Amino acid sequence: MAVTGAMLVLFLIGHMIGNAKLFLGKESFNAYAEWLRTVGEPALPARTLLTLTEIVLAAAVILHMWAAVTLARRAAKARPVKYATKKKSQANGYVVHTMRYGGVIVVLFVVWHLLDLTFGVVNPEGFAATPYDRVVAGFQPSRWWVTAFYVAALVMVGLHLRHGLWSAFQTLGLVGGRNRRLLNAGAAVFSALLILGFLAVPIAVTIGAVK
Ligand code: HEM
Repeated sequence: MAVTGAMLVLFLIGHMIGNAKLFLGKESFNAYAEWLRTVGEPALPARTLLTLTEIVLAAAVILHMWAAVTLARRAAKARPVKYATKKKSQANGYVVHTMRYGGVIVVLFVVWHLLDLTFGVVNPEGFAATPYDRVVAGFQPSRWWVTAFYVAALVMVGLHLRHGLWSAFQTLGLVGGRNRRLLNAGAAVFSALLILGFLAVPIAVTIGAVK
């Protein structure tokens, strides 16, 4: 879980920073999108970086889900009898729901996101437009519901990430004594900053700050 989770986090950091180029203007954002497609040419074929990213991401998502199901089954087998206590713990309370259903919502979000901004199928500007125009058309005020969906899905990504980071810290044996509060806060702050960074783009377009 941790290795594939770390790959996904690295992608998210890179993707968020790349998206922020939208604030530098149309030329800058489109030049960056073009660079993603042409980096390494002519030594490497076109789209090498993108294709590698797609393969690694797809593998990471599948393995991450497979590890989650395997771990949940193993945990159920190790403890077939429910705990007598009613008190919800991290392991059986809202976190389980956040991770399971949140994970499914994130996958559905990525499917919509690819149809919208990568393939242009559900985007008003379509595939022929530049990436900048697709982003601006996709989050127009009249399409506020798309932005609302992004906000909901990204909050899920944030909660998922926060718990994932916390679990990884525990697995690595870092949590103990005074570290506990610090790592808990660190996971929350990191996740919040990442999500706010992502949300800046759709919100800026929807309120007309980016045209
Ligand atoms: C508000 C936030 C986001 C914006 C504005 C955004 C924007 C974009 C754009 C414009 C592209 C197409 C890039 C291109 O064709 O050059 C893209 C691709 C992609 N995005 Fe996002 N994105 C956001 C959040 C996310 C999140 C949270 C995830 C994952 C959970 C994600 C996953 C992806 C993936 C997997 C691709 C395809 C990458 C590839 O083709 O290799 N995005 N995004």
